[in-house]
Amino acid sequence: MDTAARVPVALGSRSYEIVVGSGLLKHVGDLCGDLLPGRRVMIVTNPAVNRLYGTTVSNSLRRAGFQVATTEIPAGERAKSLRHAAGLYRAFLDNRMDRRSVVVALGGGVIGDLAGYAAATFLRGVPLVQIPTTLLAQVDSSVGGKVAVNLPEGKNLVGAFYQPSLVVADVRTLQSLPPRQMRGGLAEVVKYGMIADRELFTYVETYLDAILRAEEESLTYLVTRSCAIKAQVVEEDEREEGMRAILNFGHTVGHALETGAGYRKLLHGEAIAVGMVVATKLSVDRGLCEQRDLDRLRTLLIRIGLPVETSLDMKRLMRTIGYDKKVRNRMIYVVLTKGIGHVTLAEISDLGELRAAVRTTRST
Ligand code: NAD
Ligand code: GLY
Repeated sequence: MDTAARVPVALGSRSYEIVVGSGLLKHVGDLCGDLLPGRRVMIVTNPAVNRLYGTTVSNSLRRAGFQVATTEIPAGERAKSLRHAAGLYRAFLDNRMDRRSVVVALGGGVIGDLAGYAAATFLRGVPLVQIPTTLLAQVDSSVGGKVAVNLPEGKNLVGAFYQPSLVVADVRTLQSLPPRQMRGGLAEVVKYGMIADRELFTYVETYLDAILRAEEESLTYLVTRSCAIKAQVVEEDEREEGMRAILNFGHTVGHALETGAGYRKLLHGEAIAVGMVVATKLSVDRGLCEQRDLDRLRTLLIRIGLPVETSLDMKRLMRTIGYDKKVRNRMIYVVLTKGIGHVTLAEISDLGELRAAVRTTRST
């Protein structure tokens, strides 16, 4: 193994490690080692990722004594559906998987969420290993146990909290990632900077060129630091009964933009970028945050190549926010910032306030 950092996620009997480094895929079998109860493994992936990395992962698992099968689902957010979850159950049954068999999610957040949901529910739960191959999945979706599928009414409306047994984040896989996906993942890294770590925010500002060139040292730092922040939040509030909600900074408007855009036009990270600008503008309007921090955020997002504006119809956006899980008792629960590196949870009862902040991101 070239280099590897280990980030622990301490959750009692559900504890696990996130291993971060370059060149890890060929060591997946050893990393799984005796950690897993059974020897039968189903790799869930998509055709593009399978072509790039499937053989390396399955060979490594076979060398370590696992019996390996692979099933592919189509690429894209639309695959995160109950229909494709049912397809996975069928594949698990066809491969005679039992409760000790292991699901390995090899791919981005779509694969991780869908395969994770299937692992959480098949036979009331089988072990799950996450091998995230997008920046977004490495810094966010593979860690913390949220697994889900979408309904036509909204994203992630059916799901579970189901922790993996291991996460292996090989930053070398990011070298093949399309630039737009890399930029989308960086939105989540910026989010960690905004909510918890001014230094991380400054690091992205300073080393953006190296990061966009997928330099392994910079990426290992970004992924390790982001995972450590997420692990700490999840350790304190695994089931989002309180402070885990800070991870949703930018997500109230972000999710609505994704859903309102029919899951097609905007990547998750792109939607979150606009959402973070709205949340920070709300924070400035409430006197919680300095205008110069909003300016810094906008400047960094623009340099990364992320959108900071939306053209979605305001009525449609507001209607979609109404379906979001963060709306309870006609109150919208949002995460605001008290300046880069600090967050606070807040409520909005006056939709006019939200409309005014959204208006500042209108592109028309
Ligand atoms: P994705 O899974 O759709 O992957 C993006 C694209 O990149 C896909 O076409 C994939 O085939 C391709 N790809 C993946 N790895 C590659 C590689 N190494 N080289 C080349 N191509 C590669 O998108 P995503 O951004 O990873 O994930 C988005 C999903 O994650 C959304 O569904 C979102 O809701 C979910 N999410 C979940 C959580 C959570 O906590 N569970 C958090 C954030 C986001
Ligand atoms: N991505 C938000 C969470 O995991 O809670």
